[in-house]
Amino acid sequence: MKNSNKTFYEKLHIETFKDYIPGNVYYFDVVDSTNSQAKYAENVPDKSLFIAERQKAGRGRRGRVWSSPAGCGIWMTIYLKPDILPDDISKLTLLAGLAVSRAISGSTIKWPNDVLIGNKKVCGILTEAIADNSEIKCVVVGIGINVNTETFPDELIDKATSLFLETGTKQKREDVLCLVLQEFYLLYENFTQKGFGEIYKEYINKCSTIGKEVLLIKNCIETKATAVGMTENGELLVDIDGKKEVINSGEVSVRGLLGYN
Ligand code: BTN
Repeated sequence: MKNSNKTFYEKLHIETFKDYIPGNVYYFDVVDSTNSQAKYAENVPDKSLFIAERQKAGRGRRGRVWSSPAGCGIWMTIYLKPDILPDDISKLTLLAGLAVSRAISGSTIKWPNDVLIGNKKVCGILTEAIADNSEIKCVVVGIGINVNTETFPDELIDKATSLFLETGTKQKREDVLCLVLQEFYLLYENFTQKGFGEIYKEYINKCSTIGKEVLLIKNCIETKATAVGMTENGELLVDIDGKKEVINSGEVSVRGLLGYN
C-alpha cells in the first residue's frame, strides 16, 4: 500500500463554521471517535457538533474501521435530542445522506446512506442512539467525508474516492463543512416541523440504488433482487423473483451487482 496522504495540513478554523451550528462545538485534534465522544458526553446542548482533525478509532457501519487520517477529511458527529420514536431514527440517517449529497454536486446516494461520486464512496454515515427504555436520550449522526485524501489502501481503491481525487483540486475543508452543516440543519428543521414527506421525495430522486440489480446479504446468505423503490418509512423495496419485499437497513446489507453502487 502506498500512503502519501500528507502529514502537514492546515487545521480547521472554528470561527469559519461555528455560526452554522445551533449548539456547541467540541473540537479535537486527535480523538478515538467523534461518535463515541458524543454518545457518552454529558450536558451537551441539542444540535451540537463534535469534530476532529484525526480519529484513532474511527468506526464505520457493521463494526468496520473508518480510516480518518489527519487533515484529509471531515470527521464529525452531530448530537441531536429529537422528539421522535425509536423507529424513526433511521430517517435521520437518510436525512444526513441527503444533506451531504446536496452539498456535493453530482453525487448520489447508495441506500441507505453512502454518498457516492460515480461508483465510489466519498462519504459514510454512522447513526447511533442512546435510549432509556424506549425514550431517546440522544441520537448521534456521525459523518465522514473524504475531502483531500490522496490515496486509499489497495482494498479500497475501487470503492472509495475523495473530492480531491474527483476534481484534481485540494478543497478547503471548511467550505465543504459549511455547506453540509447548512443543508443538514435546514433538512432537520423541515423534518421536525413537517415530518419525512419532502425529504422522502428528494431522497428518492438522489438514490442511485433504486432501479438497480442488488445483492442482499443477510446472515451470510446472498439473494439477488431488483431495488424498485423506498417505503415512506425509509425501507428499501425490492423485487425478488416477482415478489415484493421490504428491506430494513439494520438487518440486511445491500450491494450493487456492478461496481460498488
Ligand atoms: C460507514 O460508511 O461505514 C460509516 C462511516 C462513518 C464515519 C464517521 S467519521 C465521524 C464519525 N465518527 C466515527 O467513528 N464514525 C463516524
